[in-house]
Amino acid sequence: MIRAVRKTFCFGAGQGFARASPIDVRLADRHASALAMLVPLLGCGEEAAAIAFDGLAASDGDPAAAAALKAIAEEERIHDRLLHGLAERLPPTTATALRREARRFHIDLGRGSTLTHLARIAAIDAGVCTILSRLLRPGSPVAGDQAVAGMLARIRLDETRHVRLSRSLVLMRADGRQFEDVAHAAREALANVIMLAADAFEDLVVDPARLRADLGSLPQGLLRS
Ligand SMILES: [Fe+2]
Ligand SMILES: [Fe+2]
Repeated sequence: MIRAVRKTFCFGAGQGFARASPIDVRLADRHASALAMLVPLLGCGEEAAAIAFDGLAASDGDPAAAAALKAIAEEERIHDRLLHGLAERLPPTTATALRREARRFHIDLGRGSTLTHLARIAAIDAGVCTILSRLLRPGSPVAGDQAVAGMLARIRLDETRHVRLSRSLVLMRADGRQFEDVAHAAREALANVIMLAADAFEDLVVDPARLRADLGSLPQGLLRS
């Protein structure tokens, strides 16, 4: 059966979408349905991040920083394609309210100065690493599916680099402590959006209350040298 392919999770229309090879999902139906709720949330973040890093690269006066930011934008597009490939093999889902809130969240991340934006990105990408680590915890349903786990682990690895780069750009250019409040607010907002999918996390054996608490606090030292 050929299913209609959703070309964008939130922001990606006209962004040069290329179809990814669908991956071999072996999750039980219940777990596949739960993951289907989360993939658009992650995908929305990837699309927003690709646009954000392209914009940051275009406006950065330092050619080395601009090149690094551009390379990240490219990685975010790869993540987006990987998640589309995954979504194709999961039960169809609309999750309209979730997408709407995710979209609003990502638009808000870009408000203010470039450094404010980078500080929020460092905080949010660190949060995404936490989310992926919970999903990938040994013994969890996702960890038991080699193809899905491999893909999410690859995204997590890239995200740890994105945290390092955005953090170091902030710290090279300013005292990061002045951005801790906005970064913390972005983590709180991320936690609120993520909790709209609390049931899906629970189905995937991730404790939503603990996840909420961890996402809602800024990792100590994230914006300090
Ligand atoms: Fe990403
Ligand atoms: Fe990222």
